[in-house]
Amino acid sequence: MAAEVHVPGSREECLARDAADPLRDVVARFHKPPGIIYLDGNSLGAMPRGVAARLGDVVEREWGHDLITSWNKAGWFDLPVTLGDRIGALIGAAPGQTVVTDTTSINIYKCLHAALSLNPGRTVIVSEAQSFPTDLYMIEGVVATTGAQCLLWNRREAIESMLDDSVAAVLLSEVDYRTGALIDAEAVTRKVHEAGALMIWDLCHSAGVLDVALDRIGADFAVGCTYKYLNGGPGAPAFLYAAERHHEGARQPLTGWWGHARPFAFERDFAPASGIRKFLCGTQPILSLAGVAAGLDAMVGVAVSDLRRKSQALTGLFMAHVDALLGPAAEIATPREPDRRGSQVSLKFGEGYAVMQAMISKGVIGDFRAPDIMRFGFSPLYTTYTEVWDAAGILSECIESEPWREVRFTRRAAVT
Ligand SMILES: Cc1ncc(COP(=O)(O)O)c(C=O)c1O
Repeated sequence: MAAEVHVPGSREECLARDAADPLRDVVARFHKPPGIIYLDGNSLGAMPRGVAARLGDVVEREWGHDLITSWNKAGWFDLPVTLGDRIGALIGAAPGQTVVTDTTSINIYKCLHAALSLNPGRTVIVSEAQSFPTDLYMIEGVVATTGAQCLLWNRREAIESMLDDSVAAVLLSEVDYRTGALIDAEAVTRKVHEAGALMIWDLCHSAGVLDVALDRIGADFAVGCTYKYLNGGPGAPAFLYAAERHHEGARQPLTGWWGHARPFAFERDFAPASGIRKFLCGTQPILSLAGVAAGLDAMVGVAVSDLRRKSQALTGLFMAHVDALLGPAAEIATPREPDRRGSQVSLKFGEGYAVMQAMISKGVIGDFRAPDIMRFGFSPLYTTYTEVWDAAGILSECIESEPWREVRFTRRAAVT
C-alpha cells in the first residue's frame, strides 16, 4: 500500500519538496532543455547526459579503431544478455531470463508462439480490447499463421469469465496506455495459472517506474520498451523475459542464427540455444544497444521503490492541482488511488489534441491519444515537483483561455 503523502499546496512547498527530494541529484543526470517541462517520458524518455560520450566512444573507439574485434573485445556479442540482466534487476527477474532485442511488437510475436508451443491442445489467446493496438495486431498475425483464436476481455468483467481449458495464453498490459490504470499483476497471473494458461505481460509502461516482480509472481513471459522510462533513446531495442522453466520447452518461431546453439559453427540445420539466447533472431543493433546502456547507467544506485514513491507523489500532486484550478472542467481518466495507477495522468478532453499543441507552444510537452485522451507522463528520475505545479497551471490557462481554438493548433501531425 502507498503511504499517505502530504500533497504540496503551493509552489513554495514544491520548491521545498524538490530541495529535500532523495532523487534530486539524479535529476542532474539528464539533459533538460531550458524552458521545457517534459511530461512525455512515458512515450520517449529524456536524454541522459552520458549518452553522447558513450555513443561517441562506441563509434570512435569500438567501431572506428577496434573494428570487428569489438564483437569480442568490447562485449558486443553479449550485449543483449548483459543488458538483459541489468533490466532483469529492475523487473524482478533473476539473471539469465531477460534479453534486449528487436521491438516489443516482434517480441510479443515470439512470446505468443512460445506460449502456444508450451500448451499444446489449447488454441485461444486472451487479450484486452483496450490493449495498445500493436499487441492486438501481433495477435492477429499469430492467429493467421497458427490457426489460434483470439478472445478479448473487458476490464470491467472478472478475468475468470474468460478462462477455460481452451485458453493457452493471456497477453495484457500492466498499465493501460490511455488511462494509466494499473492491473493487479500478481492476482491476474495466479488466476491465469489456475486455469492452466500462461501469462505474458506487456511492461512498456511499467519497466523502470513500477515495482515489477516477475519471478515472484510467477509470470511466464514479459516484453517491454526501453525508450520510455528506461531512457534508451528513440527506437531503442525492446526487452523480452522468459521464465527459466520454459527455456527448454518453448519454441521460438523466428529461428535466426543468433538464436542458434552454435552460431559460429555455421551448421546447416537450426539447433536452438539452450537459455534465453534462443529468443534472439539476427545481428543486434549495437549503436542502439549503447543507448540502452547509457539509459541504464543513468539509473545506477536508484531504487525502484524510491522511483515508485516519487511517481505516486508527482501524479497525485498533478491531479490535486488540476482539480483545484479547473474543478469539473477537467475530467481525469486516471485512477485516484495511488496503487491503482502507473506513472501517468490522463485527461479526457474532446479538443485534447489542440490543447496539447497549445501547451507545447508554452513549453509543456505531453501527448495525445485518439480519440480524446491528453496524456502526461511523470518520470520520477528527472521530473520535479515544481515543474508539475507549473504544468498544471499552464494546462488550466490553456483550457480556460482557449488558445487551442487557433487553427495552427488543430492541424494533426503524423505523430501525436
Ligand atoms: C503498451 C505498448 N505496447 C507496445 C508498444 C509498441 O512497441 P514497439 O514499437 O517497440 O513494437 C507500445 C509503444 O508505445 C506500448 O505503449
